[in-house]
Amino acid sequence: MALMTVYVDGERHRALPGQTVAALLLATGRRSWRTTRLGGRPRGVFCGVGVCYDCLLVVNGLPDVRACLRELRDGDRVETLRGARLPAGTETVRPVRDTGEKDGVDEADEADEVA
Ligand code: FES
Repeated sequence: MALMTVYVDGERHRALPGQTVAALLLATGRRSWRTTRLGGRPRGVFCGVGVCYDCLLVVNGLPDVRACLRELRDGDRVETLRGARLPAGTETVRPVRDTGEKDGVDEADEADEVA
């Protein structure tokens, strides 16, 4: 069985045919390879079957690749992530935080309206 050569953050690795990106990273001892946009919390494999999207990284310049599903190909270049890298032309959307207000009306105002 011929091994393939792939690169993770520029570091050369040997991979087996059919091996996923996640399997390679786990085999090298890594448990996380991206961080969340908010809070910078580490993420790696959670479900392992393509459902949770915790394992996202960049493969050959394409962001949002699920490491648990993507089989490696000879010469692949894998990049780990800090935060999110959005596809070119995508606008950044600020997350909405729950402040307890509804349309600018706080709970005290609502109580006054009911009384
Ligand atoms: S680990 Fe859940 S989608 Fe990859």
